[in-house]
Amino acid sequence: MIDVKHLTKYYGRTLAVDDISFHIDAGSVVGFLGPNGAGKSTTLRILTCFMPATSGSATIAGYDVFKQSLQIRGMVGYMPENVPLYPEMRVREYLMFRAALRGMKSKQRSLAVDRAAEKCWLVKPEDMMRRRIDQLSRGYRQRVGLADCLLHDPKVLVLDEPTIGLDPAQVREMRNLIRSLGEEHTVILSSHILAEVEQLCGKLIIISGGKIVAQGTPDELRRQVSGPSRVIVELRGGQAEQMAKAVADVDGVRDVQHSRAGNWTRLTVQGAEDADLRQDVADLVAAKGYHLRELRREIGSLEDFFVQMTYEQITRD
Ligand SMILES: Nc1ncnc2c1ncn2[C@@H]1O[C@H](COP(=O)(O)OP(=O)(O)OP(=O)(O)O)[C@@H](O)[C@H]1O
Ligand SMILES: [Mg+2]
Repeated sequence: MIDVKHLTKYYGRTLAVDDISFHIDAGSVVGFLGPNGAGKSTTLRILTCFMPATSGSATIAGYDVFKQSLQIRGMVGYMPENVPLYPEMRVREYLMFRAALRGMKSKQRSLAVDRAAEKCWLVKPEDMMRRRIDQLSRGYRQRVGLADCLLHDPKVLVLDEPTIGLDPAQVREMRNLIRSLGEEHTVILSSHILAEVEQLCGKLIIISGGKIVAQGTPDELRRQVSGPSRVIVELRGGQAEQMAKAVADVDGVRDVQHSRAGNWTRLTVQGAEDADLRQDVADLVAAKGYHLRELRREIGSLEDFFVQMTYEQITRD
């Protein structure tokens, strides 16, 4: 559905997007995740024809984002970071105005507005469509923005930080809304909150400093970033070096470091990628007659990875 190859964007001398490539299947919900300044909005603006790229290519359903912007705009609904609503307009009036801008005839306009309002749960309370936009809560304003980008029933929805500034209850509602939209549309959304996209998206693209640093399903990423598994063992009943040596001889163990933990010895046991060494280490401890007070496996989480990556970017800047 969406194919991006070697996309690069400079703002003057600032490199905002650095040679990124990815593919998005039709019907999927994809999360663009990255810290502030990573290049998320820039990429989304390019995909929605709001801005040209410096180089590279991007197609949506076979149409070229750079050359066929009319077709792309007809197929894509884009909710920018700051939803540009007219504060003094009423909800229905605003949506009718936006539908007119899209060139819809009056009857078609009314139908489109009703349909989008229904999808975005703007039909309750009953007077919602007659309220002034500047008197709406932020969550409802976001829904109006979302309804706006659904008016022409686009195949693809591009939502730049759709939950920013919402309270936890509204975040949950917006998430449910996006999930239900994902049943009929291909959705790309951006966020800098991992937990949010992890629950919502079938695929995550993690971007930092203009580059894709990882992509895949949340499960694939978790496997990718967790690295080799580690087992932490605390035991006594032998000399620290000897115990470390005995554990190092267990099949699948790559490295053992030892340190003191009071009267106990703590071993940090490094295994191969997916190996779970707990059973083998426990068997050895039993066979040697050591005393054991702790045996646990440590797997790096996606959160750890994301925070580390964010931190690296901040310290580099
Ligand atoms: N109009 C612009 N002119 C110059 N530089 C820009 C412009 N817009 C963005 N940048 C720069 O490009 C880089 C990427 O910005 P972008 O807005 O794409 O990041 P983002 O991932 O959306 O961040 P955020 O989470 O803060 O929205 C940043 O270094 C930013 O300062
Ligand atoms: Mg942004």
